[in-house]
Amino acid sequence: MIKVEDIAFVRFRAPDLGQMRAFLEDFGLVVVEANDRRIVARAMGPAPVAHITELGEPGFAGIGLRAAREAELRQLSEAEGAPVQPFDAPGGGLVVRLADPDGHSVEVVAGQTPAPPSGLPGGEPWNSARIRDRLRQSRRLAAGPSHVVRLGHAVLNVSNFRASEAWYKSRFGFITSDEIALSPQFSVGAFMRCDRGETPTDHHTLFLIQSPKGPGFNHAAYEVTDFDDLMLGHQRLADAGRHSEWGVGRHLLGSQIFDYWRDPWGHTLEHWTDGDLFTAADGSNTATLQDLLGVQWGPAAPPTMG
Ligand SMILES: [Fe+2]
Repeated sequence: MIKVEDIAFVRFRAPDLGQMRAFLEDFGLVVVEANDRRIVARAMGPAPVAHITELGEPGFAGIGLRAAREAELRQLSEAEGAPVQPFDAPGGGLVVRLADPDGHSVEVVAGQTPAPPSGLPGGEPWNSARIRDRLRQSRRLAAGPSHVVRLGHAVLNVSNFRASEAWYKSRFGFITSDEIALSPQFSVGAFMRCDRGETPTDHHTLFLIQSPKGPGFNHAAYEVTDFDDLMLGHQRLADAGRHSEWGVGRHLLGSQIFDYWRDPWGHTLEHWTDGDLFTAADGSNTATLQDLLGVQWGPAAPPTMG
């Protein structure tokens, strides 16, 4: 077993790369490679790749996870009998390609060259009733897309939760944060975080949910700079006539403020901010389907979600 440290990217196919590019730019990603074969986009953080679209029939084409060291890729390669190959994308590095029990492509990358950092907006003091922090100074925000910092998690619909859970945990070291139990004997999914020891990490990097619709892509979620940045991005996507799926609201499990949108072919991408961070020692909980779909504020989940 290796321990992945984060999700790296999601991969799609689309028949019109120009349309996908326009959507990604409204969403707040930065296109770093565009040709007649594919477009590659990054966020503003150091990850050189965050979203890949290849020309083809529309669909989900897999997730990428990131290992801390190339040595871990060699270990995975030996255990799985899958070769270590050069990763053909900006930032380079190496990749081992696997398929999960439902046939979803899972690429594990390491050794990518980080992208140059981009400056993030915001950071101005915020006035609340408790703390008056911004004095003798106006707040003025620049309209435009959200400043997406990084890909934070992906959600996959699976045909058999326990089989997929075992597959991902035994290879990549995921830890359950919240397991979704319909009864004490029957669980249908789990929010899983990376095992980064004492380093706090997102409440979930991967969420697997057994779906009556069968296996497939549920959504991928990108962290934005802060709440204002999320709302500016909402305005931009709404003004551009994009398809809002669900939001704005605050989740119960993971606690994020969320905002879900669909790409031109119906794949759901999420903006989020202010999520929970836990260490490996923080343990696991069980929760209900009501907790999963529940919000602390905001609209109820639409029936189309996921
Ligand atoms: Fe999400």
